[in-house]
Amino acid sequence: MKKKVTVWAPANIAFIKFWGKRDEELRLPMNSSISINLSNVFTITSVEFDENLTDDEVNLDGRVVSGKEKNRITKHLDRIRKMAGVNKRAKVESKNNFPAGTGMASSASGFAALSLAASSALEMRLGERELSILARVGSGSACRSIPDGWVEWQEAKTSNGSYAYSMYGLKHWGVCDVVAVVERAKKGVSSTEGHALVESSPFYKSRIARMKEKVRDIKKSIKEKNFSKFGEILEAEAINMHAVMMTSDPELIYWSPETLRIILKVKEWREGGLETYFTIDAGPNVHVICLERDAHKVEKLLRTIRGVRMVIVNRVAQGAHLV
Ligand code: DP6
Repeated sequence: MKKKVTVWAPANIAFIKFWGKRDEELRLPMNSSISINLSNVFTITSVEFDENLTDDEVNLDGRVVSGKEKNRITKHLDRIRKMAGVNKRAKVESKNNFPAGTGMASSASGFAALSLAASSALEMRLGERELSILARVGSGSACRSIPDGWVEWQEAKTSNGSYAYSMYGLKHWGVCDVVAVVERAKKGVSSTEGHALVESSPFYKSRIARMKEKVRDIKKSIKEKNFSKFGEILEAEAINMHAVMMTSDPELIYWSPETLRIILKVKEWREGGLETYFTIDAGPNVHVICLERDAHKVEKLLRTIRGVRMVIVNRVAQGAHLV
């Protein structure tokens, strides 16, 4: 029997970042990370297994993919087939709600959606923890797009110990992530390649040495809803990760002139009483973190900055689910 399953999965933004793996194959992180799911940056994926297919067919945003891009997906489908004990090939159709080439990470939402859709299409009925572990092996940060709301991904030495869980649901705290998408510079080094360079930065060891403390402090600020403390930690954390990136060999510079322009604006707004903080992933876009009551104002202000191509307002969202 053929069964087509469609899944919605969000991207997520980390306040304490995943940068550096203790195991590349299993994608086990060196440190725990903390994130929220994003309501307006997501992937919708359909999967259908079919014994008449001789090969997996993968369509991403209306384009048939092949080569390296397809291999990563086939490899993930192979893991799922092995778990289920089946051999059938699959037809995968995936769409992001954000335009390609905007540098918005799609691997987190993509592998979260693929994990849930493919395992459901094979009627595997995995629990949230198992799904998170499965998504993690596809792309590390994807494990955080499985549970709802405010999420912690635990660092562990074994695969079974390293999964993400929901610390709080959607209603815990009205924090927003207003993303400023900027002009795209030349395509940078992928995060998978970047992770492998961490040891070459002289600052990586000291970054990791302070991680447990940072995770503890940010969790306390989230529990107490202390926005100033929360913002202070997340902003310093983003700069810390980028310092490691910039001092790797070869160096990784993900920022563009627009990135820095927005950073300086955020600081200016904050001095003027509009409490906002920034965080940045492996690309030039800036995520401006604010309280819900200020989201509209932040959106309008970001739109006035030269080089800002698009602004996306996100609330805290659910994790991956069937649609
Ligand atoms: C900078 O999860 O994309 O966004 O496991 O190689 O797919 P792979 O890496 P990925 O790395 C995310 C890096 C980051 C920080 C974060 O999201 O925590």
